[in-house]
Amino acid sequence: MPLKFETDDSKKCYETLRADLANIVQETEYDELYGHKLTPDAQFYNEGVVDNLIYKFCKANQFELEGSKSQLVKTLKWRKEFRPLHAAFSETHDSMLNDVCAITVDEKNDANQKVISWNLYGLLVKHKEVFEDTDKFLRFRIGLMERGLQLLDFESEDNHLMTQVHDYDNVSMWKLDPGIKKCSKAIIEVFQDFYPETLFSKFFVNVPYIMSWLYEIVKRFVSEDTRKKFIVLSDGKQMKEYLKFPPKEYGGQATLESSKLKKVTPNAYVAHLLTLEDEKTTV
Ligand code: HEM
Repeated sequence: MPLKFETDDSKKCYETLRADLANIVQETEYDELYGHKLTPDAQFYNEGVVDNLIYKFCKANQFELEGSKSQLVKTLKWRKEFRPLHAAFSETHDSMLNDVCAITVDEKNDANQKVISWNLYGLLVKHKEVFEDTDKFLRFRIGLMERGLQLLDFESEDNHLMTQVHDYDNVSMWKLDPGIKKCSKAIIEVFQDFYPETLFSKFFVNVPYIMSWLYEIVKRFVSEDTRKKFIVLSDGKQMKEYLKFPPKEYGGQATLESSKLKKVTPNAYVAHLLTLEDEKTTV
């Protein structure tokens, strides 16, 4: 995707950060972002992808150099520590969470609505125990995010962002459950800090009018820029006004169950990193 700059200063911010990348990788001792190698080699490196990833950090920081660099450094340090690729591809998660969350890919959908993550959290109303251990939930949710990112094409204009759906069918709460609050807050922060410019839009569907108070609370944790990407719908079927090919439950033809990806295969670099990790732990 051709990188667009409105001012010379914006371009300068990007070029400076891009030129500093090898140093940043050396300082953080971490050479991976969203499954892609950041510094050149003969096997895994894709320059165009890396250009676009660095651009995202600049854009999210309004092309202000210090902020962009600081966010990138923090992201790489966090990835080194948290091991999100491990969470995505090498860990076993709660089967209940695996059942209610899924990823679909449909090339026929419009730009940046091709890869969608579905979070049917409403089905967990009677299983609040899955939110008791924040770290466990975080590793699951970040794992899902990383699997979705593997399906994006950061060089393209029409598939470099993800769409996400939260379905709150059956939810009726008079106060915010502390476990849910802790998990939501933790994930919102991680997404905001370490996944800049990865979201196209986020739908909250089957939200009954009486639950609007919860939206008012949760959205306070979220930045203004992210909030602009939110769409709240009282009926899931309304999704067909926004999405060309939604699942049957949301106004389309094929059921969500039949559209779910059974498995996401990691790219060659991710597979390589995971093998190295395995070797380290078995030595
Ligand atoms: C975010 C769970 C009810 C609005 C989240 C997140 C979780 C979650 C885990 C973290 C972000 C993510 O996973 O993508 C739940 C559960 C609910 C519930 C279990 C009840 C059973 C609601 C309701 C609303 C709401 C009724 C009203 C629309 C939001 C908003 C975010 C959020 C605005 C921020 C999303 C973001 O920044 O990406 N919720 N939620 N939630 N939820 Fe809920």
